[in-house]
Amino acid sequence: MTSPENLAQIGVVGLAVMGSNLARNFARNGHTVAVYNRSPEKTRDLIAEHGDEGTFLASETVEDFVASLERPRKAIIMVQAGAATDAVINQLADAMEDGDIIIDGGNALYSDTIRREREMAERNRHFVGAGISGGEEGALNGPSIMPGGPKESWETLGPLLESVAAVVDGTPCVTHIGPDGAGHFVKMVHNGIEYADMQVIGEAYQLLRYGAGMSPAEISEVFREWNSGDLDSYLIEITAEVLAQVDAETGKPLIDVIVDAAGQKGTGRWTVKAALDLGIPVTGIGEAVFARALSSSLEQRAAAQGVLPAGELATFESLGLDRDAFIEDVRRALYASKLVAYAQGFDEIRAGSAEHAWDVDPRDLATIWRGGCIIRAKFLNRIVEAYDADPQLPSLLLDAYFLDELRDLIDSWRRVIVAATQLGLPVPVFASSLSYYDSLRAERLPAAVIQGQRDYFGAHTYGRVDKPGAFHTLWSGDRSEIEV
Ligand code: 6PG
Repeated sequence: MTSPENLAQIGVVGLAVMGSNLARNFARNGHTVAVYNRSPEKTRDLIAEHGDEGTFLASETVEDFVASLERPRKAIIMVQAGAATDAVINQLADAMEDGDIIIDGGNALYSDTIRREREMAERNRHFVGAGISGGEEGALNGPSIMPGGPKESWETLGPLLESVAAVVDGTPCVTHIGPDGAGHFVKMVHNGIEYADMQVIGEAYQLLRYGAGMSPAEISEVFREWNSGDLDSYLIEITAEVLAQVDAETGKPLIDVIVDAAGQKGTGRWTVKAALDLGIPVTGIGEAVFARALSSSLEQRAAAQGVLPAGELATFESLGLDRDAFIEDVRRALYASKLVAYAQGFDEIRAGSAEHAWDVDPRDLATIWRGGCIIRAKFLNRIVEAYDADPQLPSLLLDAYFLDELRDLIDSWRRVIVAATQLGLPVPVFASSLSYYDSLRAERLPAAVIQGQRDYFGAHTYGRVDKPGAFHTLWSGDRSEIEV
């Protein structure tokens, strides 16, 4: 049993890479850290390899682990999201006392977090679902942290989390997002945006590689250059690294020996499912999720290759495209599509927040996503400014700065979609984002046709542009209109 004076300020349960890196981050920042893992070998490994980085209190039972924590106890669970999380939460809750705080730092589904928070509140335990982004490196050196849960727990937890989070311009990349599931909800949407961001970079690569005929090494250089402008971001930076990598075994660019079937663990899919329920069109994220699914439909793709007619395809040369001008057009199309994905993601966050009465401040989110997380980008500063200028902005696209940018981007964006179509190259997010954009700005949408059809086959009624009310045409009668 630990003596009271050397109790731990924070505990970490689950010592796979993310958990042990986070524990090390706390220890390196001067906190005494209690650690526990179901199989004790991992705990022993952590202490053997990194025990000298700070003060760790290692336990081999949950009870000892809980006893080694200072009150109110604070324990972060870093286990694979799912059923295992409930088991660990309950074990901790059993050993804990009133007012102690359990933090789930995994990628849990926000509705599970809402339920868990309620269950823990009934037992007088605080439950904080915290999104943590930044991968293994972020966990060790400073992630972006999105904690939800009760506001009171933030009072105790805030300073601890601030001490390990990434810092941008003196501001730690962590803030209390809102009650119960708010933290995991915004982390989910962060991941959805991450999917769209990764896909638009992939589409730019595809156009430069198979449209302009550039080599991975050349494209890597282009991305390096892009990374010093508006597109300056972690994802562009690492893509340049990936494209420059040569496979040691074959001497080929590594990108050419990686199977082109994208995996996914579920957070992108959840973002789209939640958006469907909220009625928010997250077309960019949706197309990015579907693009991963399509890429992994290997049998279907093999059956279609060389069989589905391509029609008369153009070549880069036959289109008379200039390489440098095309590269710039692609950069602008990427930027515009990325803007749409962010605008849609923020729409979903606003709708989720309204639905659950979370009162999430989008400005705070843009602020804490500037560093530590996977979608960190210079561009997020602009989003912070946009919400500073108008906290009720109806869409990010309508911010004055972004409107100016869009004026510069739109022609290139259209040209890229036309060229991609003529070259027969798929650009699902670039193209659907432009359709979304054109839909938003359209004076009339074909929705009037849909309303007419619905009224025809199901008497679902329609509204009129010239007067209020619901109307129905007697389609199978004399086709006069009645007000219903
Ligand atoms: C992060 C990442 C992280 C993880 C994703 C990857 O913010 O640090 O998003 O959460 O890398 O789960 O998701 P997929 O495996 O679905 O691509």
